[in-house]
Amino acid sequence: MNASGPAAAALDPLPVLKGLANLRWLTGTYPAGHPMIGQKLHELEEIVRQHLHTRPEMRIDIIRGGVHLDGVRVDGSDPARAQIARELPELGIDSLYIRDGVDADELLAVAELLWLPRSGQDAITAQLAQRNVRHISLGKLVALDTRWRAQQWPDAPTGRLDPAYAESLLLAQQTFERTAEGRQLDLITVRDLVQLLIYKVARSQAALSQILAVKEYENLTYCHSVNVAILSLLLGRQLHLGESDMLALVEAALLHDIGKTRIPLEIVKKPGALTKRERKLIDAHTTLGAAMLAQTEGLNPLTPLVALEHHRSAKGGGYPDLGSEVPHIMSQVVSVADIYEAITGARSYQDPTPPERACLVLARLAGDKLNTVLVKAFVNAITFFPVGSIVRTDRNELGVVVRTNHGDPLHPVLALADEALDGPVGHLDTAARDASGAYERHVRATVRPPAGFNAGAFLGTSPQSA
Ligand SMILES: [Fe+2]
Repeated sequence: MNASGPAAAALDPLPVLKGLANLRWLTGTYPAGHPMIGQKLHELEEIVRQHLHTRPEMRIDIIRGGVHLDGVRVDGSDPARAQIARELPELGIDSLYIRDGVDADELLAVAELLWLPRSGQDAITAQLAQRNVRHISLGKLVALDTRWRAQQWPDAPTGRLDPAYAESLLLAQQTFERTAEGRQLDLITVRDLVQLLIYKVARSQAALSQILAVKEYENLTYCHSVNVAILSLLLGRQLHLGESDMLALVEAALLHDIGKTRIPLEIVKKPGALTKRERKLIDAHTTLGAAMLAQTEGLNPLTPLVALEHHRSAKGGGYPDLGSEVPHIMSQVVSVADIYEAITGARSYQDPTPPERACLVLARLAGDKLNTVLVKAFVNAITFFPVGSIVRTDRNELGVVVRTNHGDPLHPVLALADEALDGPVGHLDTAARDASGAYERHVRATVRPPAGFNAGAFLGTSPQSA
């Protein structure tokens, strides 16, 4: 189907977008079941039906303010078109794909979904699944002609790294590359790596800040795996897991995505939407990984199970389809860490999401997709010193967090206070480093606010960000 051909005029995507926008407005204004909603829904269904009469899928992308149908820009600059091309991206949506088989309930569900606060891609996908919408996808991720927004990020962290973290990345890279060549998993390296992560990396504030902060790189599998292992470990600690459980958890988290070493890299890294076949291949990293790990003698029995289940939902959905079976709690721990890690890292089609927003995304997924108790524990474990909290540094300075340094949430900017917390007596950037490149100080602890404490007196006093 060529949208620039004679049929294109008849197949203008604008009425679909307008219909959806109107329906969105009506569902937010009138009670459910109102006749106005029914009428608009019927009209929209009819327009969509005309589109899908000639092809199995209609793909609408909004690229740089222009509406594209099936990858071809649709001409016309009337105000209605311009407005709609502005509205959807403002809602966090710039692609809308509708497939044959779509029904009125799905269209209505999408219109209602658009009323919800702007969410990340993962949250949108989860919401669609939750509402049983199978023939419509919405996303910030656009399939065609979208390389303009694809950014080349480095494949791994650049710059100065904590030595233990750097060493663990190197070991993981070797392990994963070996496996990608079709060789046996090197158990000795895996064990060394688990020890290194538990006893060194997780104890280094510098390493943790490098893992927890926004990551300005598009993580390859080995890097993602090390980070997920550390994040799982932090969550495990928060849950007071014993040492043997911790060892099992870190091993499983480290190897959860090992199946990806058997998927072509160009598919793993493909910017934009995947074809059905590519999606199936990617999804198979769970079963492939589980099979590889089950054949490796000497691993903890949980390791293949976590690889199999880490994309399963807390209540039994997700993939692979294992019926209503609820995933093992360790798989659920890794799922939380996996999603946080993925969204705080850069992707070719998406900038990294800052930790505090990543926590919100997790909160939205809590319930059906993620285990609520685990999400709460995770956010408690990794949230750093939110603005307004009182902290003490390792030089015994007391201050109120007035700003978080971008990419370095463990080292915020403080408004210094005296012990009575009367008011700001100066400012301090805890991210400052000495001549050797080491931090001059660390935030040591959060201090419980005294009764009647007014953080407002300290906020708004932050010096301009650099
Ligand atoms: Fe995965």
